[in-house]
Amino acid sequence: MGRIRILAAAVVLALLACWPTCEVRGKETDDVLTSLVEFLATLAGGDPAAPQRIGWNASVDPCAGTGVASQWGKTVTCFDTTETNAGHVKKIELEALGLSGTIDAASLCAAPALRVVSLQGNALRGELPAGVSACSGLTHLYVDGNRLSGPLPGSSVSQLRKLLVLDVSRNDFSGELPAGLSAVHGLKRFIANDNQFVGTVPDFNLPSLENFTVSNNNLTGPIPQSLQRFGSESFSGNAAGMCGEPALSACPLPPPNDETADQDEEDKESKSRRTRRVLMYLGYALLGAVILGFVVYKICSRKRKNKLGRKSRGGKVKDAFDSSDPTTTTTMTASKSASAASAYSLPASVERSAAAAPSTSSLVVLRRSGTASVTSTAAAAAAKELRFEDLLKSPAELLGRGRYGSSYKVVVPSGAALAVKRVKDASVSDDEFRRRMERVARARHPAVLPPLAFYCAAQEKLVVYEFLANGSLAKILHGSIESSQAPLDWPARLHIAAKVADGMAFMHSSLRGDGSGSYSSSSTPSTPSSGEAATDGANANAVAVAHGSLKSSNILFTASMEPCVSEYGVIAPPPQLGGGSSRSSGLRADVRAYGVLLLELLTGKCTAAQGDGAELARWVTSVIREEWTAEVFDRALLSRGAAVSEQRMVQLLQVAMRCVEASPGEAPPTMREVAGMVNAIVEEDDRSLSAEA
Ligand SMILES: *[C@@H]1O[C@H](CO)[C@@H](O)[C@H](O)[C@H]1NC(C)=O
Ligand SMILES: *[C@@H]1O[C@H](CO)[C@@H](O)[C@H](O)[C@H]1NC(C)=O
Ligand SMILES: *[C@@H]1O[C@H](CO)[C@@H](O)[C@H](O)[C@H]1NC(C)=O
Repeated sequence: MGRIRILAAAVVLALLACWPTCEVRGKETDDVLTSLVEFLATLAGGDPAAPQRIGWNASVDPCAGTGVASQWGKTVTCFDTTETNAGHVKKIELEALGLSGTIDAASLCAAPALRVVSLQGNALRGELPAGVSACSGLTHLYVDGNRLSGPLPGSSVSQLRKLLVLDVSRNDFSGELPAGLSAVHGLKRFIANDNQFVGTVPDFNLPSLENFTVSNNNLTGPIPQSLQRFGSESFSGNAAGMCGEPALSACPLPPPNDETADQDEEDKESKSRRTRRVLMYLGYALLGAVILGFVVYKICSRKRKNKLGRKSRGGKVKDAFDSSDPTTTTTMTASKSASAASAYSLPASVERSAAAAPSTSSLVVLRRSGTASVTSTAAAAAAKELRFEDLLKSPAELLGRGRYGSSYKVVVPSGAALAVKRVKDASVSDDEFRRRMERVARARHPAVLPPLAFYCAAQEKLVVYEFLANGSLAKILHGSIESSQAPLDWPARLHIAAKVADGMAFMHSSLRGDGSGSYSSSSTPSTPSSGEAATDGANANAVAVAHGSLKSSNILFTASMEPCVSEYGVIAPPPQLGGGSSRSSGLRADVRAYGVLLLELLTGKCTAAQGDGAELARWVTSVIREEWTAEVFDRALLSRGAAVSEQRMVQLLQVAMRCVEASPGEAPPTMREVAGMVNAIVEEDDRSLSAEA
């Protein structure tokens, strides 16, 4: 610890020593400066005095001097002395200055290294000119809260390949949403609410999109599958013809992706029907009545088997949401809109089917139609056909052993890789476990890995997931030095923290069970009632389902390296752990575990296996008390751009501490509140960090 302290002191000294000598010569040419001043004059409606009033002077280089602060005042920010573009203008933020002119993109984009342009909250008129494509390094463009009109210049906006944020909300833009934005792969926020956009919403294929808001326009048609993960508030207030998930009225026809899924289903169905018919004809022709009898017998017995399997498994639940039959589209959409109250709830159907013979039929396959989940279609297809014997027969590889069981990688005959968690937990009844897994399977969020199937017998429970080959957060954070993985930097860790918080908050609110968010309600332990399975989610007697074992080894990475929470609800820890009522103690314990996860992300230190992170929290508290906050952070975090982000690191640390130990007299935060705090930090980070040059 002492060594780290000396190091930190050395860094501070080095920075201080550098300060007076790190002077930068401004690098913008006279032409650029003249152009920028012209841009501002046009923005002010041709008022030649405006630039002077705001402090822009073409005969003074804004970026000559010691660093970020410019000679043109607060509206201009330069690159830091340490950045490659030092001496150039990085940000122009002309916000709420009452500017009522037009945007002269050609003059603006004369600045060669511009990253951030914000013109929000003025009274700008005219169009967003196509010339903005010349600002090729732009990462953030805010023109919200003006009177801009006309169509968005789609093809030129889509040339801004580095764009992270595009906010055109609260203007008078019309025309269609630019489908070309799909080419801007890194786009995180597209905000276009309160305009007059018409037409349908393009199927933007942008996995990194975090906020997509097109409410209060005049859009019509179905919400594309890829955007259904955004909440209803993203789409509200559009033309009556807009429809579909997450919360609007059902579309007359299913959206394109659903259609193809159903099409596949139908194809398969008709194919198998055809095969059967051909078999029968063959039977007639070749072997006559004997074979025919055999075929009929075969079909009948298979049907009866299915019937038996389904009946043995509580008909009530099945009736509530079984819509395996592709012809019952109406039932499907009805159940869709009924369950669409929460943002990510897309379960079109969860079918339970007995895949194996009656004697070993305890394997329950949780099948969902629709593809909005993180699970790959190959794994989902494999799970659909899964039989218990396959799991037993296929080669298995031990992935890890934990306190409550082990996990294995199993490659089933179809070639798909599955992860099987084997839980040794006799404290939960089969029925309760089954109900829990079914509820977890129905609440779906892109940051939570859904169970594909489960098996339960008295002493042993298996839960089947898709196998994700990119490893866990624990492995990346604490993996061996030789591993090829680069250490996670601050933006990556913050992203993981936010995604996990979102997923957990969503799961908590969909699986809370009693509809109230209070952690201190009812102190009597609620027992699952017998009727619970029938109505589930909305049932007042349902017990909240907590994750139970949130930790870095349960944060996995998808093929696109997005974090994904695994093993949700597999383990129900003993209720006394979190204190409080049994209904909510599990949720409280999750919040605590999330806090420990944040500490792990921030410090890069391993949580002691048996200490539940208490050790780590104590260490962090003691270090903070001595006001050496920077010392707790992982060195990998401090190496790059540290000065810029440290404030946000401290904020995240404070969130972590609140999760781990709420101060006396203060209610512990709920997961939803925690997610709000983390996302606020993300937004701040997005805006003030703007972009890596
Ligand atoms: C711009 O700055 C120069 C040098 O500081 C000064 O002489 C000149 O008056 C300024 N021009 C305006 C329009 O403020
Ligand atoms: C998306 O951004 C808008 C505008 O900044 C904000 O009002 C909204 O709350 C955000 N939505 C989400 C889900 O973050
Ligand atoms: C909205 O769209 C509908 C159908 O395209 C059109 O009839 C209506 O005039 C539009 N309303 C506005 C305010 O643009």
